[in-house]
Parts: sequence; C-alpha cells; structure tokens
Amino acid sequence: MMIRLLSLFPLLGIVGVLAQNTTGLSPKQYLYLPLGAIKPSGWLYDQLMVQTNGLAGNERNFYDYVAQSDWTGGNYTYSNLEEAGSYWFNGLVPNGVIVNDTTIQSQTQYFLDYVFANQDSTGWIGPEVFDSTKPRYLWGRYPFLFGVIQMIEYNSTLSETLIPAIYKFVNLANTMLQSGQGLEPWTETRWEDFCIILQWLYDFYPNGNENLLINTMEMLRNSGVSWQDVFDKQYFPTTATENLVNPFNNTLTWHGVNVAEGLKATAVQYRFTHNQSDLERASSGWDLLFEYHGRPSGIFAADEYLAGLQAIRGTELCDVVETMYSGSYLFQMIGDTKFADRVERIAYNSLPATLTGNMWSRQYLQQQNQVAAMNMNPDPFPTDGAYSNVFGLEPNYPCCTVNHPQGWPKFVTNSFVTTPDQSSLVHVYLGPLNTSTTLANNNAVTVNVDTLYPFSDTLTTTITATSAFTYYVRIPSWVSGGTIAINGGAAQAVNPSNGLQSVSIGAGTTTIVLNVPAEITLENRPESSIAVHRGPLHYAFDISRNQTILAQNAQQPLAVDLQYLATEAWQYAIDPSTLTFNSNPPSSGELPSPIFDAGLPPLTITVTACPVAWGLAGDTFADSPPVSPSCTGAPTNITLWPFGATKLRIGEFPVFNSTQ
Ligand SMILES: *[C@@H]1O[C@H](CO)[C@@H](O)[C@H](O)[C@H]1NC(C)=O
Ligand SMILES: *[C@@H]1O[C@H](CO)[C@@H](O)[C@H](O)[C@H]1NC(C)=O
Ligand SMILES: *[C@@H]1O[C@H](CO)[C@@H](O)[C@H](O)[C@H]1NC(C)=O
Ligand SMILES: *[C@@H]1O[C@H](CO)[C@@H](O)[C@H](O)[C@H]1NC(C)=O
Ligand SMILES: *[C@@H]1O[C@H](CO)[C@@H](O)[C@H](O)[C@H]1NC(C)=O
Ligand SMILES: *[C@@H]1O[C@H](CO)[C@@H](O)[C@H](O)[C@H]1NC(C)=O
Ligand SMILES: *[C@@H]1O[C@H](CO)[C@@H](O)[C@H](O)[C@H]1NC(C)=O
Ligand SMILES: *[C@@H]1O[C@H](CO)[C@@H](O)[C@H](O)[C@H]1NC(C)=O
Ligand SMILES: *[C@@H]1O[C@H](CO)[C@@H](O)[C@H](O)[C@H]1NC(C)=O
Repeated sequence: MMIRLLSLFPLLGIVGVLAQNTTGLSPKQYLYLPLGAIKPSGWLYDQLMVQTNGLAGNERNFYDYVAQSDWTGGNYTYSNLEEAGSYWFNGLVPNGVIVNDTTIQSQTQYFLDYVFANQDSTGWIGPEVFDSTKPRYLWGRYPFLFGVIQMIEYNSTLSETLIPAIYKFVNLANTMLQSGQGLEPWTETRWEDFCIILQWLYDFYPNGNENLLINTMEMLRNSGVSWQDVFDKQYFPTTATENLVNPFNNTLTWHGVNVAEGLKATAVQYRFTHNQSDLERASSGWDLLFEYHGRPSGIFAADEYLAGLQAIRGTELCDVVETMYSGSYLFQMIGDTKFADRVERIAYNSLPATLTGNMWSRQYLQQQNQVAAMNMNPDPFPTDGAYSNVFGLEPNYPCCTVNHPQGWPKFVTNSFVTTPDQSSLVHVYLGPLNTSTTLANNNAVTVNVDTLYPFSDTLTTTITATSAFTYYVRIPSWVSGGTIAINGGAAQAVNPSNGLQSVSIGAGTTTIVLNVPAEITLENRPESSIAVHRGPLHYAFDISRNQTILAQNAQQPLAVDLQYLATEAWQYAIDPSTLTFNSNPPSSGELPSPIFDAGLPPLTITVTACPVAWGLAGDTFADSPPVSPSCTGAPTNITLWPFGATKLRIGEFPVFNSTQ
C-alpha cells in the first residue's frame, strides 16, 4: 500500500508563498437568502413544529451537554463551545427563527451574548482550558460561528458589536496557525468550515481585512487534509474501509462526518485558488462517494468510517445532516442540480427514517435493511457500538443529539436562492414554502408554494412582484412527463435548462401550477437485489414492530431509548414487474401530523412478493439478500411505504418472477 504524507506542511514560512491568486474570491453561482426570508408552510411547517416540540427544541431545558447555561471556566468539557453547545446553536438559530419560536430565540440570544461577553482579551471564545494536555483547538468554534452568521443575517444590527468580536477571534486564529497551534486531526479535516466563515466576512464585512482573511484561509487549507487527494479516484476507497490501509497520514479522512463535511472542501478552496480543477474534484468526488458507498435513501454509509454498499452497514445521523448542508453549498457554488436532487432525496428519506415520528428519539446509525433496533449481539458495525441503531437520546455518542437539529431548518433556508445579480429567484428544494425578499431594483417579491410534495406531484405557486423578473424552479431529474401552466393557461411540457425551468413573471400576481410525475424506477444493489423509487421517495417494506422502553431520562420523560423488534416476517422476494403506485390524497387536504411514521403517508407501492429463506447474520440483523432465492410459500401482495416513514424495514429486496 502506497503511503502518502499529506497532512502537515511545515507551518512556518508558508504565509503567502502558496497563494495562487490573492486578488479576491471567485463568485458563487447562486446566493442563499438571509435567515428569515424563507418559511416552511403546510406539512413542512408541521415537520419543523414536530422538531421544535421534540428533542431538538427541548434539549436546552434538560440535556446535560447543552442545559448548562454557562461554563465555569474550569476544565475542558464536551459541552459548550468544544462541540455540544456549538452544534446546538448552529441548528437552533434557524429553527427558532423559521417557526418564530420566541423561547428558542431567547435561548440562542442568551448563548450568543454569553459567549461574547466571556471572550477573553486574546480574542479566544469559549471555555478556557487549564488542562495542559489539551491546548486550545479551533474546530469546536466553527459550528458556533455558523450560527452567529445566521443571527447577523437575520438581524444586521447585531453586526455592530459582533463583527469586531469575530475579527478578534480571526486575528488570534491567524496568529495561532502561524505557529502551528490550534490544530489536531479534527481541525485538520474540517478546515473548510472555518474558510466558509472567513469567506462570509470577506463577502459582507471585509472592512479592510481582505489579506488577513485570505491568508488565514490559505493557512487552514495548507495545514489541513488535502480533500483534492482524498477524493482522487486513485486513492478513493471502493469498498468498506475497515480492512484497508488509509494512505493518508490523518486516518480521519475516511470518517463519515468528516467526509460529509469535506464533500464541499475543494469547492470552498476554489474560491481562493481560482483553480477550476478544485471545482471539478468536488463534483467527481461527490459521484465517487455515492457510487461506492451510496444508499437508495440518498445518503452514503459510514458506521464511523466509510462502509461500502452492504445493506446492513450503518449511516450516522450526523452524516445525513452534514451531507445535506454540503450539497446545498455545492449547488450554490457549482450550479449542478444533481446536488439538489440528492439533498432533497436525503431530506425526504434518510433524515426522517432515523428519527422517531415525534422526533424525540434518534438513532446513531440507520440501516437500509434494518430488521431490529436493539442492543445487538454480535454487532454488525466494525467501529461503532452495539447500541448504535437503538432510537434514543444519545445512543453510542451524543454528537447527533446536538447536531441533528440543523437538518430540516437548513433544508428550508437553502430552498430558494438568487442569481448573483439578485435579479432572479430560484426555487431549489420542492415543498411547501413561503418566501419574501427584495430582489435587485427594489423588486419586492413574495412566493407561496402550496403543495403536499413529496406526497403529491402538484405544486401551486403564487408569486407577487412589484416588477417583472425571471423565476426558476428546479425540475428534478426523475420527473417524467412534467407540465407547467401559468395563470390558468394550458399545461405545457416542462423544458428545463441545466435542471431549471424558467418562467417570466410580470408585475402583480402570477400563478404557476407545476406537475412533476415520475415513473417507478429500480436501482440495482449488491447480490442482485433491487431498491424501488418513485420520484423523490424511496419505498421500503415497513416491518411492523413492537416497542420496549430501554431507558428514560430522569429530567424529561419524553426522552426515551426505544427498542423495536419485528412482529411479522420480512423475508420476501418481490416481482418488479408487478410494482403498482397508489395515491390516496387526504380528503381534508392536510397530511397527518407527524407524517413520517408507520401507515401515515398517502402514497404506497404494492408488489407481488413471495416468502424466501433469508436468515439473520448474528441475532438481530439481516443477512445479505439471498441471490435468486426459491419461494418457500405462496405469492402474496405486500405494500411498500415511503422509506422515511419506516423504522424497521427492508429497502433492498431479492427478486423473483411471479409468472413462472
Ligand atoms: C484572480 O482572481 C480574480 C478574481 O476571481 C480573477 O478575476 C483573476 O482572473 C484571477 N487571476 C488569475 C491570474 O488567475
Ligand atoms: C404562507 O403564505 C400563505 C399565503 O400568503 C399564508 O396563508 C400562510 O399563512 C403562510 N404560511 C406561513 C407558515 O407563514
Ligand atoms: C478540574 O477537574 C478536576 C477533577 O475533577 C478537579 O480536581 C479540578 O479542581 C478541576 N479544575 C478546575 C480549574 O476546575
Ligand atoms: C413572532 O412571534 C411574536 C410573539 O408571538 C410576534 O410578536 C411576532 O409578530 C412574530 N413574528 C413573525 C415574523 O411572525
Ligand atoms: C436586533 O438586534 C438589536 C441589537 O441586539 C436589538 O436591539 C433588536 O431588538 C434586534 N431586533 C430584532 C428584530 O430582533
Ligand atoms: C502525521 O501527522 C501527525 C499529526 O498530525 C504529525 O505529527 C506527523 O508529523 C505526520 N507525519 C508525517 C510523516 O508527516
Ligand atoms: C490546479 O490544481 C491541480 C490539481 O491539484 C494542479 O495540478 C494544478 O497545478 C493547479 N493549477 C494551478 C494553476 O495551480
Ligand atoms: C415483541 O415481539 C417479539 C417477536 O415477536 C417478541 O419476542 C417480544 O416478546 C415482543 N416484545 C414485546 C414487548 O411485546
Ligand atoms: C395482487 O394484486 C393484484 C392486483 O390487485 C391481483 O391481480 C393479484 O391477484 C394479487 N396477487 C395475490 C397473490 O394476491
């Protein structure tokens, strides 16, 4: 195995030397709107309220790692700005604003004020670390600063005090990096997140600090992992990684969350290298990851480290929300709607599948074929613990408890963008949303998207504008026979360019009815198995389950650890020629709340199936799907449900032919 030593340049002396072009930052293809401009409506508003009333919205009130209102200035703890408070803040800032929850908003305001009130004279933020074995590390501040950016975007008055305080921290970080301080393997993989913060300062509040900002970005990049190399086809792992030798000095390069965050890294670096090959690597790296580790639910597998294609290997919840964020960033940098297609699939499949319907309990690892959620013996995950697929407060590790809240809110805040000249608005993620913004030339625009999508194919969009402009809406790649009708006119076939349908909007009110039907499609999976899709939704057999409460939090009885066991057979082969789509729209026009649980979505697919011999590997997880199995009983029809509503499931099936 070749050894590549890439991690650390000698840190002294690199300042400026490696700069390829310090004349500025390359532009983005699309600009997101400030927090507060986009609000969820309909079922998506309800989903955000489920989150608000669930674990995410309540954890500040009881969960050890974030319930402390401050830190004592004593020892390092996991809490606050070393990770937990920082993650929590990043997700709850947008959550509180988009559902206008004043309790959450006062919690995030308190946290913000506390952090900056306790900034020390050097510029450091967060608890000081007296333990000499743990020096100041930079990474834990990055998610907090993402939250700060969002607060300033929501209320620009905050910039007056916060921008100088952030610059104090940036100056300190610059000095630390010059002498190689602040770094450890996590900071060395997550450098791109700090670069995004510095680029935001450069774009909106440069205040004469351009050289400081570019110089800091270059030091971060040069002291960190080369994602350009990690996503190079010649080094990229094409199988589960537990038996491979990582060719990079920093083995955290193949860690799932680092990969999810690192997906955007070369696009981030492109802004200051201006090197087109960095953008190309971001796009090809995205494809490589999903080719070798992808899941029909949209996400990739990493049960701590990249885990290949087998249906029982795990995907961490943090991988889900970080990949969504990276995909939104990549769409905005590169403009390729393949990123948006996948983010939408992840949001509507992988994300809800790994949380209970009421969002009080979450897994650490989800599985594509998951026949139990319990303490496993043996454990199918080489690196993660036996408790990883239990739905609970903090199974295996606390990080996803505090990091998962960013998922839905950032999906909403990235669902509309503008063109760089801010004259056009682009609807990126399809779903019920309201947007209100002022485009170039003082063009005040409101958009109301009324739809049950992805639980319906029809979106009715009402736009008001003070002057004419071009509106764009993404047409997902899976749409077949899509139509659009403007102001009650005849429906016309959609004709998207680069994945976007353009619509000329006049001053006043315009109504757009978009219909986005899709065929049922099959995806080939390992062992000749198949996965079933229609449109944005992946469909799985929802295994009926019973529930045992394994643990209950002493402060908050709703925070429970749940074991789920199958109460029916799940060993089926299916005949793909019999797949039939069924839509039962709610007569009230409204979906049940919550929507992502057994039996609730209005869409199903039925298929003829037969029982087959398909064993367990270990006590509690399914073996690989049997290849060309014989039926062990009579054919029967089974129902497949949207993956996000299933908690125990089969999503990859063996096949049989029911006509033979
Ligand atoms: C440097 O970057 C600026 C801003 O993106 C760009 O206009 C210029 O062409 C670049 N110069 C070189 C030599 O690449
Ligand atoms: C979205 O806009 C519609 C139409 O203006 C309005 O009826 C609805 O209350 C709005 N929803 C939210 C959540 O703001
Ligand atoms: C840090 O923790 C140790 C062990 O709990 C304790 O003895 C020590 O006093 C603490 N130091 C500070 C500064 O709080
Ligand atoms: C948010 O809620 C507060 C308190 O209920 C209310 O005063 C305010 O008008 C609301 N803001 C928006 C934008 O709806
Ligand atoms: C914006 O921030 C300023 C400064 O903290 C505060 O006085 C004001 O009330 C905030 N406005 C809103 C709408 O939150
Ligand atoms: C590998 O990385 C470690 C920690 O980042 C560093 O101390 C060491 O010098 C590196 N080894 C080489 C050969 O670059
Ligand atoms: C752009 O990046 C590629 C790949 O890392 C590298 O080979 C090439 O030299 C870079 N181009 C410039 C102008 O630095
Ligand atoms: C759940 O179902 C399994 C399998 O049928 C059974 O062994 C177990 O006793 C049941 N547990 C509960 C709590 O009903
Ligand atoms: C499955 O459903 C189809 C369509 O309703 C029906 O024709 C067929 O007989 C059913 N097959 C079985 C095995 O029940």
